[in-house]
Amino acid sequence: MRIDILTLFPELFASFLGTSIPRRAAEKKIVSYHLTNFRQFAADSHQSVDDKPFGGGPGMVMMAPIVAAAVEAVEKEDPAPARRILLTPQGRKWDQALACEMAAEKRLLIIAGHYEGFDERISLTLNPLEVSIGDFVLSGGELAAMVIVDSVVRLLPGALGAEDGAADDTFADGLLEYPQFTRPRDFAGLSVPEILLSGNHAAIAAWRLEQRRQRTQSRRPDLWQEYLRRQK
Ligand code: 6GU
Repeated sequence: MRIDILTLFPELFASFLGTSIPRRAAEKKIVSYHLTNFRQFAADSHQSVDDKPFGGGPGMVMMAPIVAAAVEAVEKEDPAPARRILLTPQGRKWDQALACEMAAEKRLLIIAGHYEGFDERISLTLNPLEVSIGDFVLSGGELAAMVIVDSVVRLLPGALGAEDGAADDTFADGLLEYPQFTRPRDFAGLSVPEILLSGNHAAIAAWRLEQRRQRTQSRRPDLWQEYLRRQK
């Protein structure tokens, strides 16, 4: 997969892309990352990429010609057609199902804005998938872009080691994860559940599934209802 990220702050991505799973996936040639600064496409002497909103109001708005020129130039770098993603709190809520869908693409082009938002004509002309990572406000799309890259890349075949496969992650099947324990056996008067020390793999699997069901039911009634609906 090729991932293009268009941003005003490419430097924010260096440590994230250079660490852990995202780094390992790039080293294994499972994915490549390409950062582009919108500023390169500024046309005036002030290098403007944003301006005051028509009609008044706070903040600045990303200018359509800048974003359009950046997308066009970046897409030309490679003949593979890109799935365009525009990061905005007004977008469709990102979830594991959408991450799986995007993990099937050959190429993603992620547009991260800053400031108050994007000129509406960016979305109207580029037809991106508009994505939000949740119901809260970030100062810009950069952190959302990292969330998207991380959740997609770890789904790419070979990105995770055999020992930490994504198949039994929370959300892979609609249930939260079971509780985990490691050394020491006793901590703060709490001991590791006896069953986990039993060596009885079938019993452990059954206990874990029951824990997952109980946790999902009590912590995430919304996910539990969806799980029950899908079991039918
Ligand atoms: Cl994608 N962008 C911004 N600025 N804020 C957000 C968001 C995106 N998703 C949730 N909050």
